[in-house]
Amino acid sequence: MRIEDKPGLAWLNGFVVDTATASLTLFNHSLHYGFSVFEGLRSYSTSTGVTIFRGPEHIARLFHSAQLLGIQVPWSSEKLLVACHEVLEANRLWDAYIRPIVYLGNGLAGLKDASVEINAAILAWPWAPPSGAREQGISLLVSTHRKPCPPSFPLQAKASGNYLLSKVAYQEARQLGFDDALLLDADGYVSEATAQNIFIVRSRELITPDNETCLNGITRNAVMDLGRKMGRTVRQLPLRPDDLCSAEEIFLTSTAAEVLPVTRLNNTVVGNGRPGPLTRSLHSAYSELVRGGEPAPNAVSETAKGA
Ligand SMILES: Cc1ncc(COP(=O)(O)O)c(C=O)c1O
Repeated sequence: MRIEDKPGLAWLNGFVVDTATASLTLFNHSLHYGFSVFEGLRSYSTSTGVTIFRGPEHIARLFHSAQLLGIQVPWSSEKLLVACHEVLEANRLWDAYIRPIVYLGNGLAGLKDASVEINAAILAWPWAPPSGAREQGISLLVSTHRKPCPPSFPLQAKASGNYLLSKVAYQEARQLGFDDALLLDADGYVSEATAQNIFIVRSRELITPDNETCLNGITRNAVMDLGRKMGRTVRQLPLRPDDLCSAEEIFLTSTAAEVLPVTRLNNTVVGNGRPGPLTRSLHSAYSELVRGGEPAPNAVSETAKGA
């Protein structure tokens, strides 16, 4: 989607504003230092209206990310969740991706400027999950770039600066003809993809890395619950790339991608080269869950949806 096709209204510091006129100054502190935190949520149309999947969990993670960076969010979590709905309504969006971001403003005095004001903005746009890629599966390149060691950086923060690594790894993968990249930690254990957690299926068990360098994914937690409900053993274990090569199935999870099969890792074909049966079942169960398989306490009414 081109920027000019994006919905015109956003929430900025308490007001619904036109994205065409809302702008950052060239001295923006977060732009220069990557010092901001953000979230990615999805809204879905359900039989009871529009619901934001696991909205409170996402907003809680936004606050946790901010805390790890020492940023004081100037709004309550309740207010930000309501604001997410306001942006959907203002843009008449039902099935959408929502991006809250907390960032600093003018930073003329440089890195050490402690007086920079803190802003919160929420954007939303109709970004559909990748259905074609889900049908065929994607290819992953094990990146030459590695996650930093945990004490060196707050990796559990969904902080803009952390995505520098994801961007570089993604570009490397694309240049070599792959769809996305897999990141290992400094010791060579599997961490996650550029913006998704990873799972493998081995001997009917569902396994995801036990790794402090990967984000505590909300989709990952939902999928682990679904796997258990399907009667599968779910484990968090340290994984090496070789464990992935011998897996029966591999898939990624994220709010944006939902449950996404991986059918090739470097030059190794995963399973029979097609999305595996457990991956497909988990995606169906996840689709049901997000579209009303769980109560939607923050659902917007049908009337509001159609207004
Ligand atoms: C680095 C990274 N890992 C994992 C995820 C998946 O997290 P979630 O399922 O909460 O969207 C994301 C989501 O954006 C991410 O950026």
